Amino acid sequence: MSYTVNTLRAITRSCGEMRDRVKSIVFKPEDRKVLDLTFGPGVAAELVGRTPEALAKAEKDGRLEPPKQQANGRRYYDLEDLTRIRDALGIHPGKAEDEDAVVIAVQNFKGGVGKSTITKHFADYLALHGYKVLVIDCDPQASTTTMFDIQPETLIDDEQTLGHFLSPRSTFDDFAAAIHDTAWPTIKIIPSSLGLQDAEWDLTSTLREGGQAVREGLQRLRIGISTIIKDFDVILLDPPPAMGFLGLNVMASATGLLIPVPARQLDYLSTIHFMDTIAENIEVLEANGTPVDYGFIRVVCSAYTPSKPGEHDMWKMMQATYANFLLSQPILASEEIKNATQAFRSVYESKPSASHATYNRCRENLDLVFGEVVQQMRQQWPSASIVGHDAPASAAA
Ligand SMILES: Nc1ncnc2c1ncn2[C@@H]1O[C@H](COP(=O)(O)OP(=O)(O)OP(=O)(O)O)[C@@H](O)[C@H]1O
Ligand SMILES: [Mg+2]
Repeated sequence: MSYTVNTLRAITRSCGEMRDRVKSIVFKPEDRKVLDLTFGPGVAAELVGRTPEALAKAEKDGRLEPPKQQANGRRYYDLEDLTRIRDALGIHPGKAEDEDAVVIAVQNFKGGVGKSTITKHFADYLALHGYKVLVIDCDPQASTTTMFDIQPETLIDDEQTLGHFLSPRSTFDDFAAAIHDTAWPTIKIIPSSLGLQDAEWDLTSTLREGGQAVREGLQRLRIGISTIIKDFDVILLDPPPAMGFLGLNVMASATGLLIPVPARQLDYLSTIHFMDTIAENIEVLEANGTPVDYGFIRVVCSAYTPSKPGEHDMWKMMQATYANFLLSQPILASEEIKNATQAFRSVYESKPSASHATYNRCRENLDLVFGEVVQQMRQQWPSASIVGHDAPASAAA
């Protein structure tokens, strides 16, 4: 055996031992994320799409339990209370039972443009507004998985993973069994695991067989999603920053596309190439019996600092070129987002890291951006246009 192979094997052995040691100490149940989110009457009312007066009236006439009170008399609600309020008042922001979830891919082949940050924040935003969400982390880097408090190392011995489901070498075919709970009662996740990269290679090797094997390889995720598509309102896909079989599976499964592009020249230029590649890949999928039809395609400027040299011009250029396909609000680059994600949290789960004003500005900006996406995705549900079927106030704005 060559020096190179021997060296690599020795390193793998040593890493494997370290992995097992890490695994035995890394997963401590007591370290799991606990959400202690509480909302005052004003915010709670806004999140369920009613006025504080309407909630107070429903509490007075017995349709709702009165809210909990802190020692200082401040009234507050938690996440479960929001669900109880919606149930009691018949507020259904999501799809009708017989409709399909909207499947949104947060896709760009360029690395580091904000895909995982947006996936995590959008999932939390949707949950706060009463939607049932499934996040599928299709990136072997597993950033989103970690932000949902699952350590990919803990899944090493697990047979019921996305990687096993996607791999044509595996017999595991119960997609729903790969779904895990998160700290959010209404967000579930199919986590990424280290085996996901192997699945990519296994899928790529179908190219040698061609024909039917390739067709099946391109549709694996779509078939899995079809088995649970009525159980959630929104399914968010976080792909890897490369166009291989995993990326193609994501594109074949999505019914809507959100493309993050920071206001930077290089990212803007590479996105032109990305759009071209998407079109080509959709042709590949269609030629392989996998028709793709996105209900919406939107570019979102994913990190914008108006005061930074050149970024204002980039934003103007994006407005001119993407026109109606660009969300009208850019996501502002924010230390709040950076600090929260470094602590594996979203801004929606965190307390202000600097001033309340900066934190509130960041949240208000994210709310506006995600509100626009919600408007797009709701158009995929015929029931959403029926009077009486509720959209949260911020989404309807
Ligand atoms: N609006 C923002 N403000 C500040 N920092 C941001 C913002 N969006 C993303 N970031 C930071 O940029 C970095 C890259 O973001 P992220 O991991 O979401 O990109 P990605 O596209 O998922 O990357 P990859 O292609 O590697 O999966 C992260 O450190 C994140 O905290
Ligand atoms: Mg990512």
